[in-house]
Amino acid sequence: MLPKSAYIPKLQVTVGDITALRVDAIVNAANTSLRGGGGVDGAIHRAAGPELLAECRTLGGCATGEARLTGGYQLPARYVIHAVGPVWQGGGAGEAGLLSSCYRQSLQLAVEAEIRTIAFCAISCGVYGYPVSQAIDIAVREVRQFNYPPACIERVYFCCFDESIAAMYRHAIRSA
Ligand code: APR
Repeated sequence: MLPKSAYIPKLQVTVGDITALRVDAIVNAANTSLRGGGGVDGAIHRAAGPELLAECRTLGGCATGEARLTGGYQLPARYVIHAVGPVWQGGGAGEAGLLSSCYRQSLQLAVEAEIRTIAFCAISCGVYGYPVSQAIDIAVREVRQFNYPPACIERVYFCCFDESIAAMYRHAIRSA
């Protein structure tokens, strides 16, 4: 259990397109090349415009479990944090640790950039096939257990593409 004094940002579940959110940063479910793709990655690159890919090309890729910060360009969000989640391989290949690391590293980048509001998509819950319920538990746990410095992240959104996933996030937040 967390010590009572531990600070936790407000957690909020929202249903819709993450590219439309007017927050300081949105978290993309990227791949190791950081050169875009389908799913939320494709949506973010389409909405941000070509300058996002141009900046991503300067980063030299990103290992699974890690995250990188870029500008948001034509997005309402000021920044994009590109997190590379694990491909689900049955659970015996360190997937949980890698997914946990995506959330921790994204939050650390957000703190360093003095980001106040951040929206996560459901990393690895699409093409990468991570069991959604397990991924959501990891997401909520890592956001709650992160060691937030004073006066930092005020609100964390979990942005879901459909109501069924949103209901799972709400349940996980209530149960945590
Ligand atoms: N806004 C919010 N959520 C979205 C959006 C959107 N516009 N588009 C998709 N999602 C949701 C999906 O429904 C899923 O729940 O984001 C979650 C992550 O799904 P994917 O985008 O498939 O990401 P992931 O499973 O991590 O696979 C990453 O897919 O697009 C490629 O380049 C990407 O190779 C990488 C892989």
